[in-house]
Amino acid sequence: MIWYPYTQMKNMKTPYQIVKAEGVYLYTKDKKLIDSVSSWWSAIHGYNHPEINDAIISQIHRFSHVMLGGLTHEPAQRLSAKLSEWLPGSLDYCFFSDSGSVAVEVALKMALQYFINRGDSRRIMTLALEHAYHGDTFRAMEAGDDEDYHFILKACGKNENIIHIPTSINALGKAFAEYGERLNCFIVEPLLQCAGGMRIYGVDFLTRARELCDKYGVLLIFDEVATGFGRTGNRFVADIVTPDILILGKALTAGYTGHAVTVANEKVFKGFCDDDPSHALMHGPTFMGNALACTAALKSIELFERDDYLAKIKRIEEIARESMRNFSARGVKEVRVIGGCICIECESAEVTRGFQDFAFDNGVFSRPFLKYIYAMPPYIITEGELLKIINVMQRWFA
Ligand SMILES: Cc1ncc(COP(=O)(O)O)c(C=O)c1O
Repeated sequence: MIWYPYTQMKNMKTPYQIVKAEGVYLYTKDKKLIDSVSSWWSAIHGYNHPEINDAIISQIHRFSHVMLGGLTHEPAQRLSAKLSEWLPGSLDYCFFSDSGSVAVEVALKMALQYFINRGDSRRIMTLALEHAYHGDTFRAMEAGDDEDYHFILKACGKNENIIHIPTSINALGKAFAEYGERLNCFIVEPLLQCAGGMRIYGVDFLTRARELCDKYGVLLIFDEVATGFGRTGNRFVADIVTPDILILGKALTAGYTGHAVTVANEKVFKGFCDDDPSHALMHGPTFMGNALACTAALKSIELFERDDYLAKIKRIEEIARESMRNFSARGVKEVRVIGGCICIECESAEVTRGFQDFAFDNGVFSRPFLKYIYAMPPYIITEGELLKIINVMQRWFA
């Protein structure tokens, strides 16, 4: 049987059986649902996109996968070239992996080894944010800060080498003053902390973080697995403040297949690239650079640019802001909108109970978590479809 995620299997609600997906719609045998969460924020072009389908199918006829150990191929080469050209600064060195969590592990390992390669073994600490979520593998869980997901870590005791701070400039200054000489990196979900509760914070925090990282020689890592490819209204937050290492996943492959990339800048890459074999990055997921994933990513980026997705996201944000402007109701603590993300923070998790079925009955698939009811729709959504999602979210409180 399937063991489902984040779920007590004993009394799990039967999942909806999907038989087809197309555009923004998921289909059960007898129902058509707007997917308001883009399959965990990945399906930015919706489902069954003819151009992405065609690209993948023609790659399948060449080959689906060959390993990157000792071999290479055009889809991976073209994707790394495209990302190098597309991403800001010298973020040019692409290490592929199979999921966002693994890409986070790679980034954390890179940051640690960067200093070890220089003979600096003092820098074994990581700075991270309160309410952070970076994935479910072990080091990613430790960099994360959410007991609701990772209470199991308590059994191992707190890792004293990972410090969590709130998104306050004051706390940032204090943390660098105290730990600056021992940190190898500061990892953040920039501007928008997603799984930790769709929490939005300011660019000024990131600008200050960049300054302090430069001052103390610490690597700045942006985990844009969730925020990348437009979710905050920016193509990448890295376009505003440039990190040393950037992590992309989810929408990278438009929801077609799991893949991620850890992109390092020249300074980081040079910290590995020398005559000493022991300075190599010792990592190599079997499916890194998978040809189908790279093909989907290339086509997805092409559509993103060609069809001006940033304008689409801006429109989503405008509609959401306008519709939510005067919304308040019993049980609602706060409404937050940024780019293609709309979140209603409820007074308690109790308030969200039953919302998924209510949304389903009204033609929308939603997956609230903790005390958050939110939407992160595919960017191809029409105004009418978006208003329908927002209407369902608001009517729940009526
Ligand atoms: C910011 C962030 N980092 C990492 C991950 C983990 O990605 P994956 O589920 O592909 O392992 C997620 C997943 O939600 C995420 O939101």
